[in-house]
Amino acid sequence: MSRFTRRRFLATSAASASALALLGRSAKAAPSDRLRTAHVGVGGMGRGDLGSVASHPNVEVVALCDVDSNELAKSAKGHPGAKQFADYRKMLDSMADGIDAVVVSTPDHTHAPAAVSAMNLDKHVYCQKPLTHEVFEARRMREVAEERKLVTQMGIQVHGSSQYRTATEVVQSGLIGKVREVHAWSNKNWGYDGGPFNGKDPVPDSLDWNLWLGTAAERPYVKGPYHRANWRKLIDFGTGTLGDMGVHIFDTPYRACALTAPKWARTTCRKPTGVGHPEKNVVEYEFPGTRFTADSLRWVWYDGGNAPPKPSDLPLEADVLPKLPGQGSLFIGEEGVCLLPHVGNPVLLGEAAEKKIQPVGGVNHYHQWVDACLGKGEPSAHFGYGGPLTEALLLGVVANRFPGEKLEWNADELEVTNVADANALIRHEYRDGFEVEGL
Ligand SMILES: NC(=O)c1ccc[n+]([C@@H]2O[C@H](COP(=O)([O-])OP(=O)(O)OC[C@H]3O[C@@H](n4cnc5c(N)ncnc54)[C@H](O)[C@@H]3O)[C@@H](O)[C@H]2O)c1
Repeated sequence: MSRFTRRRFLATSAASASALALLGRSAKAAPSDRLRTAHVGVGGMGRGDLGSVASHPNVEVVALCDVDSNELAKSAKGHPGAKQFADYRKMLDSMADGIDAVVVSTPDHTHAPAAVSAMNLDKHVYCQKPLTHEVFEARRMREVAEERKLVTQMGIQVHGSSQYRTATEVVQSGLIGKVREVHAWSNKNWGYDGGPFNGKDPVPDSLDWNLWLGTAAERPYVKGPYHRANWRKLIDFGTGTLGDMGVHIFDTPYRACALTAPKWARTTCRKPTGVGHPEKNVVEYEFPGTRFTADSLRWVWYDGGNAPPKPSDLPLEADVLPKLPGQGSLFIGEEGVCLLPHVGNPVLLGEAAEKKIQPVGGVNHYHQWVDACLGKGEPSAHFGYGGPLTEALLLGVVANRFPGEKLEWNADELEVTNVADANALIRHEYRDGFEVEGL
């Protein structure tokens, strides 16, 4: 097995931390003014990613890969010249010299294996959110991108929206003073409180189930809970509502407050079942203070039926609050409050209510990445940003396996210092035959 030893991994982490500022820069020049892209996972969001990347005039789509031949065929209609594959490893082996950049839009558990395999060949990578399924993988994605000086972007397209850029400016320009607390929520339910899936169904002719499972342990195919989309609810493949929607909704507070790693995380939810993520979570974090926050920042996440938070959950007078949207965040500052619907314009409340917001324009998040791969500018959601954001979120996902316990976090060592069993969930062994160098 080509795994890093812990010693080598820690040495790499330390070296990487000192050079983080370099992330997002292109060192690998594309061979010309065109970018030859390969796309892994082209159904669902992958089809949208394909269209958005391909809409850049300098992109040539040269390869498409999907483990479901029906999805592959649908996406191939718009790109008849692209070679087609079921296995991204074969695609990378056979076309290494003909690809400049890879887009990964598979279920979460395959993000890091596919993206690191591509980066090991010096390909620039766009990878859907959450960056990875596990904390260790998020750290390695950031490190490999940095070591190889690749251009990367995590798939949080709303990061480039005018609304979210404006909200970042609201906080950083001090309109609400230093931020003391952030409350963020999504009323979506990407959890599953039921038991294991027994029995088995015939695998559809179009699906390569073994490749879909990838690094995860083998199990019989069952129609419904896995392919497509519902894998999000399950601990072996997805990251629940916190990982799924939280990446979008945590993004602006994380960026605006210039946060780093949390000190601890604690989830209130039902007892673990070993199958799905909880359907209702409240996750509390404490982050170290920054120049945009008070001495420390309390952060609370609510999902499923717990969202939006009730007035009694919030340290605010009820008359300050309008009706809260189903998804969004509230920044509670020392001089006012900002409500940020997902995705909507920021609204100032409380003592900041009369202040004027200066809107900031949006950027095309996909074209920003393509342009950077071609040497122009830098992506703003590169893995140096998306990696730490994902690590923070995934600590909360780990905490849902230890309800009520405060997981004290040492980010340098990637270690929960007070609940030893939690460390088994920071990184897991890949299935034989699916190992990846560097993971
Ligand atoms: N940024 C956003 O707004 C947004 C929205 C939806 C989904 N997403 C993300 O996009 C990713 C995909 O989500 P989805 O809803 O499209 O899931 P999905 O299950 O609907 O589609 C996944 C696609 O990937 C294919 N696939 C699965 N394993 C593969 C493998 N090993 N190699 C190649 N192809 C493989 C599937 O056959 C399917 O076509 C997830 O990471 C999700 O979080 C992001």
